[in-house]
Formats: sequence, structure tokens, C-alpha cells
Amino acid sequence: MTTATTPAAIRHYLQFADLSADEYTYLFDRMAIIKKKFKTYEKHQPLVDRTLAMIFEKASTRTRVSFEAGMYQLGGSVVHLTTGDSQLGRAEPIEDSAKVISRMVDIVMIRTYEQTKIDNFAAHSRVPVINGLTNEFHPCQILADIFTYIEHRGSIQGKTVAWVGDGNNMANTWLQAAEILGFTVHVSTPSGYEVDQSIAGIRSGDSYKVFKDPMEACRGADLVTTDVWTSMGYEAENEARRKAFADWCVDEDMMRVAQPGALFMHCLPAHRGEEVQAEVIDGPQSVVWDEAENRLHAQKALMEFLLLGKL
Ligand code: CP
Ligand code: NVA
Repeated sequence: MTTATTPAAIRHYLQFADLSADEYTYLFDRMAIIKKKFKTYEKHQPLVDRTLAMIFEKASTRTRVSFEAGMYQLGGSVVHLTTGDSQLGRAEPIEDSAKVISRMVDIVMIRTYEQTKIDNFAAHSRVPVINGLTNEFHPCQILADIFTYIEHRGSIQGKTVAWVGDGNNMANTWLQAAEILGFTVHVSTPSGYEVDQSIAGIRSGDSYKVFKDPMEACRGADLVTTDVWTSMGYEAENEARRKAFADWCVDEDMMRVAQPGALFMHCLPAHRGEEVQAEVIDGPQSVVWDEAENRLHAQKALMEFLLLGKL
């Protein structure tokens, strides 16, 4: 344990903008090293005796498995909490939970609703806090997605990413990443579901362009990506969204107008026949399984960095 005293400068990962372009360069290199070790059964255990607390207020498959398996692989251990089986679900103040949990573990991952909740937790935490998805952001996913892009196509700088669908947590995080790493996002959402620059937390509109027609957003794109029509927490809007999003389904025509070598990504879980055609997500341009696997390698590099710095 290393939490007996408060470290001088705690680094949190609450949104993509919490790290600099230089730090991302380091992390993407580190992910490749950590992934190679994993693939060749070479032990990599820099976090022996460290404990990760994972707090889930929403469902998860990938985030849970990748953080839990990742921490064990790094030599540490994991505590798993949900709203239903902890005092978080019985209205213990978030500040009190943060003070208590962060005295007992070395790092915390939280999946919750409003960004203000995780910001508040982090403000009262003695240890690094990682955003495992909020209504506003999903930085760990974009970390893995950009690493996946780099593995397949090299640097993402100067490239064009087409976002087709909801102006949600994934869209906001792509916008932040574009501003930091120097690429452009073509955004097409149904009316009423647009991205909001102030929620996305970006400084200017220079790194994204808005298109009414999703086909036009995909034209010439190096990467086409989408997400569910209804994110967790918005289920009451399901019916209205099904109608509004009917034309925002990534299909083979959209992939045809993108660059010939364009990739398709989806953070998963996916609904074939809604936001994406089966032929696209299960087709040759899709890298969704690499994206999912890379959550593991990306977050191992992230936890190592937040706890130990650059090695
Ligand atoms: N992409 C993603 O975060 O998946 P889970 O909801 O399964 O964690
Ligand atoms: N936008 C989706 C992503 C799920 C991983 C949601 O928030 O439910």
C-alpha cells in the first residue's frame, strides 16, 4: 500500500483532455510494449501490492473485464463495487465515499452518470481516479480506439474521423481527442441530438465539422464510427430515438464513399440493423474486436502511468 500519505501531485483521468499530446505519444508506445508482453506470456508486474477499486453505477462487460484482468496481470488486485451492493446506493455522500475508499486502495475507476459526480469524487480522493464512462465522456474507449487506429494505419494526426449518430459521451470524447492530437471529426447527428461544444469541453470549433447528411460526413473519411442510438441512462427516450435515428445507420454505401482503406469502429455493445448494418460491423473494414481487446492494453498502460509515471 502507498496511501499512508497524500502524494504531491495526483493525476486523474476524468476526460481525454487530462493528458497532453506528448503524454499520449508515450502511452501509445507503452501500450504496444505491454501488449507484446501479454501476447508472448512475458510477465509484466509493476503494480504488485497495488489495489484498484472499480465502482459501477451502470452495466459493463468490456470495462469490467479489461480493468479487472488488467490489474491482476500487472500484479495487483481489484475490489468491485456497484450501487446496489454498497452504501453508494443508500445515499452516502460521494465526498465521504471518496475519502474512505481512497484511504484503502491505490487507484479508483468509476462508471457513473453525471461528470460532476466523478469530478467531485476525484476532488476528495487521495489516489488517481479514472473515468470508466460518464454521460459526458468515455476517455478509456477513445484511448483504445486511437491505439487501434495507430496499429492499423499509423498516426491519426491530419486524418478524418466520421461520427455518425448520437452527440453522446463517445462523440464528445472524439472531439476532445481531435483537438489534442490534431485530426478532424465530421459529425452527423439527427436534429435535437447535436454535440454541444461546451459539454464536450473543447476550446474551438476548428477540429470538427457538422453535416446534416451522414453520407456526406463519411465522404473521404479515414475512419467511420458510430454508437448505440440510446445510451445507458436514456432508456426512457428509446422510442423517440428509434424514429429520429432511422437514417443514421452506417451501411455499405457510407463505407463506399469513405477512403478505400477506411476503418470501421464501434465501442460495443452494438445493435445490428440499428446504428450499423451487419455487413459493415462484420465486414472486412471493421476492427471492433481489436478495439475491444485494446481496452485491456490501453488501460494497463494508463494505470501504470498514473501510479508510476513514465518508466
Ligand atoms: N465499450 C464499453 O465500454 O463496453 P462495456 O459497456 O461493456 O464496458
Ligand atoms: N454511449 C454508450 C457507450 C457504451 C459503452 C453508453 O453510454 O451507453
